[in-house]
Amino acid sequence: MIYSWQELSQQVETSVNSFDFSGKPDELYDPISYTMTLGGKRIRPTLCLLAAQLFGGNLLNANNLAMAVEVFHNFTLVHDDIMDEAPIRRGKPAVHAKWNRDIAILSGDVMFVQAYQLLAKGNPERLSEMLSVFNQTAIEVCEGQQLDMNFETRDDVTAENYIDMIRLKTGVLLACSLQLGALESGASEKDGKLIYEFGEKIGIAFQIQDDFLDCYAKQEDFGKRVGGDIISNKKTFLMLTATEKANEGQANKLNGLMSIKISDEEKVSGVLEIYNELEVPSLTKFAMQNYFDKSLAALNQIEAATDLKQPLIELAEMLMMRKK
Ligand code: IPE
Ligand code: IPE
Ligand code: MG
Ligand code: MG
Ligand code: MG
Repeated sequence: MIYSWQELSQQVETSVNSFDFSGKPDELYDPISYTMTLGGKRIRPTLCLLAAQLFGGNLLNANNLAMAVEVFHNFTLVHDDIMDEAPIRRGKPAVHAKWNRDIAILSGDVMFVQAYQLLAKGNPERLSEMLSVFNQTAIEVCEGQQLDMNFETRDDVTAENYIDMIRLKTGVLLACSLQLGALESGASEKDGKLIYEFGEKIGIAFQIQDDFLDCYAKQEDFGKRVGGDIISNKKTFLMLTATEKANEGQANKLNGLMSIKISDEEKVSGVLEIYNELEVPSLTKFAMQNYFDKSLAALNQIEAATDLKQPLIELAEMLMMRKK
């Protein structure tokens, strides 16, 4: 029997909710249970299980790896919300806002280690390969996060710089999640690399969609502050496209909105007006589709039955259409 991505994502949800994240002191562990049980789409662990299924492995064994990537992802969100000064996450106060910054740092640190505890339960025969991809990924995510912050105050960021930054902050973790599932199932090195490439490209498309939603999602669907990237001067795909396409008047207006002291609301609506004039939304969707196509090209090259690839394709399609 072949599981759909929905069934596997449900399985992840059940595992997360039955895992005991509690501990003493409460101030350290409560934010961990809070974050882990707030929902979220569970994409990375689902990808891990789908890759394990693709290469004929035992899904129960892959479950610890799936949990490892989800705990690691949630750790990055707890720290990301500090760095981005983001007040809400998944429709609820972010950890640093509900408790405080020090607690968010330290609880995040514990989650980082817990991710390793889970990873250590992986297939002993492939554990050194798993550790190596996970270590590399964890470092690259930090590199991507630092670039993301550096770009806030730079005005010479190119489209190529941007793609590399999102490949690092987001793409590599989706890729790593898939590769861990593949390694657990004994996939060949070649297929491990191809599934990694599928994940990296789908991750880039995923982050372009995240940037799009940050501007165009409905607040009640999104669960994060809509317009947050504009408020923090993020160099998103939308901002770079607008900067590139703007005429002199629009460029001056954009610069003004970024530098003068106005309310967050005025800044967001002013920038969105320019995005709309320049047809930035459709250009963004076009770029996203391009990376989606690249991801499928990698998946196509993997030697596995088409019906086993189907759930991965369906999950990837859902990611491109999502509203949160
Ligand atoms: C948010 O990831 C951070 C990004 C890399 C864009 P998700 O959109 O997967 O967040 P949750 O886990 O579903 O809340
Ligand atoms: C997050 O990018 C990437 C990581 C957390 C590593 P964003 O800052 O765009 O993620 P959101 O939009 O806050 O979820
Ligand atoms: Mg953020
Ligand atoms: Mg961020
Ligand atoms: Mg975002």
